[in-house]
Amino acid sequence: MRLSPVVASVFEPPVAEVKEWVAGRTFSSDRPLVDVSQAVPGYPAAEELRSHLAAVVQLPSTGTYAPALGLSSTRAATAAHLTGAYGGRVDVEQVMITAGCNQAYCLAIGALCEPGDDVVLPIPYYFNHQMWLDANGVRAVHVVCEPSGGMQPSIAAIERAIGPRTRAIVLVTPNNPCGVVYPPSLIARVYELARAADIALVLDETYKDFRATTAPAHDLFTRADWPSTLVQLLSFSKVFSLAGYRCGAIVSSPALLHEVVKLADCETIGAPRIAQEAATFGLEHLGPWAEARRVEMVERVDAFHHVMESSHTGFRVVAAAAYFAWVRHPFGGVAARDVARRLADDHDLLAIPGECFGPLQDPYLRLAFGNVATSDMPMVASRLAAAAEAI
Ligand SMILES: Cc1ncc(COP(=O)(O)O)c(C=O)c1O
Repeated sequence: MRLSPVVASVFEPPVAEVKEWVAGRTFSSDRPLVDVSQAVPGYPAAEELRSHLAAVVQLPSTGTYAPALGLSSTRAATAAHLTGAYGGRVDVEQVMITAGCNQAYCLAIGALCEPGDDVVLPIPYYFNHQMWLDANGVRAVHVVCEPSGGMQPSIAAIERAIGPRTRAIVLVTPNNPCGVVYPPSLIARVYELARAADIALVLDETYKDFRATTAPAHDLFTRADWPSTLVQLLSFSKVFSLAGYRCGAIVSSPALLHEVVKLADCETIGAPRIAQEAATFGLEHLGPWAEARRVEMVERVDAFHHVMESSHTGFRVVAAAAYFAWVRHPFGGVAARDVARRLADDHDLLAIPGECFGPLQDPYLRLAFGNVATSDMPMVASRLAAAAEAI
């Protein structure tokens, strides 16, 4: 058979590649692998959640298809959560539950773009966002975020990137890979640009529950016109530690959701029912549990900042917040992939090379903190320092 050359040209999934570097190796308890590669919680879901799901599994209805837009209870709990956390108004009809935030993104792009259209994508990007555009013949128009700009996209650059074929601007905040939390004022200005151009603002807030504040992340839901511009994407993977169940959401106009459902009907039909039951339980009962995880993540990031400031690792922290650090390695002219490989092979630290997050990102590495405790941060720094000394 012949395979699609378009899909063949899509780059390889980075996490799988990096995990392969340590596959088959064993690590002793006195020298464990420091795995800061994949952005997943290293802790299990809450005990109450797991007990609840054990009972849900027994119900015959759990094995049936869920409605295409999602269970009404999950949609209602999501709408209530958003209204409580952001203010403004989100109705149940504006919420669709998906099999994770990645599916939410793919469906949204599918409903918004034709092959040959453009999407404005800040770099460093979340690699799956680029891969999906490439696989669908949609052109990513990159806006480079600079360390001098706090790794936030410039409004002027976004404005310049919008052209006649642009259908959406994508923002990820808190950002993957940098952790940077965009201020509500920046999100509002990008929203205004999108509204003026009659295109979508696709806002991926997978990590919103790991910010250093519980203040609203943006004020867009308080605007009466938000459904005609905003496509808000959510994930329940990280906040309730249920990445394997696959549950996320698209929050937008019923008109967009109407189109999205056509695509979803051909893929998952409906998001897994058990995953939706898990998310509903989390939204309704696990607020305090999630808040404790948020505080832990803030402590991890603080501890990382502290240890990197007080030790000489040679690596420079460009940004670190909400789940991630973006660091510049000290090996000028060496590809980040080679640096990451050396860290894995010789120093038992697994990180993702910057070039997986877009062009020009070779001097950087991404570290994700889902899997390392606050008390592990000195070990992270000492492994980096050892790598720098070994040169
Ligand atoms: C920015 C971003 N969006 C989406 C996802 C995927 O989330 P989900 O597990 O809900 O599909 C991730 C996971 O790493 C992510 O970093």
